[in-house]
Amino acid sequence: MRKYLFAGNWKMNKTLKETEEYFNKFLKRLSEIDFSDREIMIAPPFTVLAYSKNFIKNTPLKLGAQNSCWEEKGAFTGEISPVMLKELGVEYVILGHSERRHIFGESNELIAKRVEGVYKFELIPILCVGETLEERNKGKTLEVVEKQLLEGLSNIKDIKGDKIVIAYEPVWAIGTGINATPEEAEEVHSFIRERLKNLYSKEISTQIRILYGGSVTPDNIQDLMKKPNIDGVLVGGASLDPEKFFKICNIKV
Ligand code: G3H
Repeated sequence: MRKYLFAGNWKMNKTLKETEEYFNKFLKRLSEIDFSDREIMIAPPFTVLAYSKNFIKNTPLKLGAQNSCWEEKGAFTGEISPVMLKELGVEYVILGHSERRHIFGESNELIAKRVEGVYKFELIPILCVGETLEERNKGKTLEVVEKQLLEGLSNIKDIKGDKIVIAYEPVWAIGTGINATPEEAEEVHSFIRERLKNLYSKEISTQIRILYGGSVTPDNIQDLMKKPNIDGVLVGGASLDPEKFFKICNIKV
């Protein structure tokens, strides 16, 4: 069965010193977590990826990156390649995050190239999808999510269900303190699973983990995780605090 995934996205936060302070605190609590049913991933900014690896190398923690190019190397100023990330011990790559889509203008087509490249180099893409408040209010949530999902995966034909992750992150819930209710999230998660079944197969759709992201905290995670199609969380703000992220990762499901 699917292993839960508790993922922290640090976004553009933490210097070397802050990274050290974080891991010194977080690693002290790690032995309290039962990893038999879950994985924990932390995605720091590129500048502290190698430094973070030093702290987590003898632990079950997984390292993630927040973006990746599709090419191995070349004239792509400002980009980082999947091969470079692999070399640092990265296993997961967050792609198509709403901040990439809305602040930096990344299209479904560009994101699909990134997903393909990362997948080809045997890193696990976490493809993020989610509607804006305006789209939700117009009743377009499922339509928007479906388009982002199908176009984001359009270059992946021969898929392994445990080698790709989807994250549903409603834009209106990111960093706002207003999380989707467990029912709102579950409606979209079960829709995504259904679409994955049509796209690939029932077996593959049951292997793919679907995370919820958007104002997840130690106080609201328990109810979200009770839903059958919520396989974990992608946490921004609360993952920056080692104590809060520990509580999130250690909840009983
Ligand atoms: O990648 C994480 C999401 O953007 C959620 O961020 O937990 O601060 O709302 P947040």
